[in-house]
Amino acid sequence: AAVMAQCRHCWRLYQATPSHMQTRQFKVAVIGAAGGIGQPLALLLMTNKLVTELAVHDIEPTTGFRKDLSHMDTGCQVKAYFGSDQMKTAIKGADIVMITAGMPRKPGQTRDFLFDTNAPIVAKAAALVSEHSSHALVGIITNPVNAVVAVAAEAMKKCGRYDPRRLFGVTTLDVVRAEKFIGDHMEINPRKVRIPVIGGHAGTTIVPIFSQCQPPFEGDKECIESIVKRIQTGGDEVVKAKAFKGSATLSMAYAAARFTNALMRGLKGEPGPPECAYVESDATDSPFLSTPLTFGPKGIAKNHGLPELDEREKQQLKVAVDALKKSVSKGVKYME
Ligand code: NAD
Ligand code: LMR
Repeated sequence: AAVMAQCRHCWRLYQATPSHMQTRQFKVAVIGAAGGIGQPLALLLMTNKLVTELAVHDIEPTTGFRKDLSHMDTGCQVKAYFGSDQMKTAIKGADIVMITAGMPRKPGQTRDFLFDTNAPIVAKAAALVSEHSSHALVGIITNPVNAVVAVAAEAMKKCGRYDPRRLFGVTTLDVVRAEKFIGDHMEINPRKVRIPVIGGHAGTTIVPIFSQCQPPFEGDKECIESIVKRIQTGGDEVVKAKAFKGSATLSMAYAAARFTNALMRGLKGEPGPPECAYVESDATDSPFLSTPLTFGPKGIAKNHGLPELDEREKQQLKVAVDALKKSVSKGVKYME
């Protein structure tokens, strides 16, 4: 299997394995790949050694952007698919499908405003995963996450292939923001901060658990309240700053790449520290809730449930659960 190749630096010949014969790690499909999140996410996934095949799909043409990515000297082969008919081929055989297809919001809109446009897109992608790659782990980035994850679950149930261990609403950006804002406040490297952010992904449904922050948070009640507010409105901050040119894309791609990497480490049986994601849950009255998870070869290996909460966090969770129940019902009703 080995062939001779030339070193790019010293021109000596060395024994190499052709890229098509490299050990297969994982196929990741990005749906909505030509968009603001899709393109940088594809770029970051191309650089991850665990991704050996990347399928980029969009309703817009993806061939030019695939060609661009395909010149990267990483061990990942990238394939382009576009148009509704090709979504199934992109998904076929994927280990992980990241769905970022759909409209972003504009200043003055809530995430919920996007439901009518984005729910059918997510429903279709979820049904195609069930039909063409039912073992795949599915990460839903498309908003409103709180409602469209329920839409995806119902679409998969209709196909008789729903496995709650394999479906995730991606809330990693809330964790990334929490770590960054806390790190900046405490004047420490944000990468050293670990904090569970539970609940959902919109306004007051986002519940950062400061009482469990590591290292312990240093600051008074007012300070916690102001950082909680900033995490809950982080999305609005970016939407406003981009002034009608979309919502968070680069930080989201970074967060999604972190989440995809955690899923792949689980698939390999080498899980890292728990990551929070919005999944089917019996921890509260809300049928879906983001809590810390450990991943394994079949998706969720362990749902750690609710962390210990102080009184203020219990109140915040109650508010979140009431809102989440409504969002989930909206998603379920849509699919009835
Ligand atoms: P974008 O408009 O830049 O890109 C969306 C892409 O989806 C476009 O390329 C579009 O052609 C494609 N698309 C639309 N319908 C499709 C279909 N049926 N099949 C395949 N592709 C389709 O938007 P964006 O900034 O990348 O945001 C995408 C979504 O992610 C939005 O709903 C946004 O609100 C959401 N988002 C979520 C988070 C989060 O934390 N979960 C963070 C940021 C943005
Ligand atoms: C975010 O949190 O940045 C995303 O959900 C995008 C948005 O609409 O705020």
